[in-house]
Amino acid sequence: MQTPRHLLRTSDLQVKEIESILDKAQSYKDTKHCDSLANKTIITIFFENSTRTLSSFEIAAKRLNANVIRLDVSKSSTSKGETISDTAANLNAMDPHAIIIRHKNAGAGYYLRSQVSCPIINGGDGAHAHPTQALLDLLTLKEYFGNDFSQLKGKKIAIVGDIKNSRVANSNIELLTRFGMEVLLVAPPHFLPPTNLPTFHRLRDIAQEVDAFMSLRTQTERHDKQIYGSLKDYASQYCITKEILGNRDVVILHPGPVHRNIDIDDEVLKDKRCKVLEQVNNGVRVRMAVLEYFINALDIS
Ligand code: CP
Repeated sequence: MQTPRHLLRTSDLQVKEIESILDKAQSYKDTKHCDSLANKTIITIFFENSTRTLSSFEIAAKRLNANVIRLDVSKSSTSKGETISDTAANLNAMDPHAIIIRHKNAGAGYYLRSQVSCPIINGGDGAHAHPTQALLDLLTLKEYFGNDFSQLKGKKIAIVGDIKNSRVANSNIELLTRFGMEVLLVAPPHFLPPTNLPTFHRLRDIAQEVDAFMSLRTQTERHDKQIYGSLKDYASQYCITKEILGNRDVVILHPGPVHRNIDIDDEVLKDKRCKVLEQVNNGVRVRMAVLEYFINALDIS
């Protein structure tokens, strides 16, 4: 049996592979249909809710002419006590070419990989990793900064919000620093992880010196108790507003879902510097390239 490669975190990919995947993603800008995954079967299992990642992966797979099977977790046998490892082993027995999983537990993909003979793609696991989100963020930044990876070097990005509980932050910190960006973390003390990166408690202190902002929502589902005064107080310090941005040439990202007027205010969401929907659009192309890369690699190895 071939040993598949899995995409569980961004560090599973070398820089050259990432560049190649993102180049391929860009080549899919106007592609609504091709046959590169014809006759392949892709299973999606999302144990946590999703608007963007699930639909984006499924659209990506369908654009490549793959068969997509969505396991409805509410009707799966996990509710009868089946472990996710056993669920994976049983799905694997049906010979899928890839399994895409989201789970609230960090590291879920690592438990599953010993049970399967196809690639596992992590669609987000707890506060650990969300590799395809970071890849689509990297593509959005690359396109903004002259469409050249070398232009990312030395650019400063402030990641703002509940960084400690964010898989998006974890994956982006790993990936963006590898591509030479300077990452600043901006959050109240209770939202900051242990880190060697520069940290700030006041958004206004760094707003004039960064080239990009990545705003994150408060991950209340991962808090065991309320650890901040109120979202209104939080917003007064950390919401990205027109006043914070001024007329500066900056780019604003957010993985979604956005808490309007808490993470980013309504006016900034309408501003052309805000690339939230462009990120979503890039997500489909990136996931097309990722699926093709991992599934077809298995075919030729
Ligand atoms: N960015 C992201 O993961 O969004 P969803 O939770 O809607 O998939």
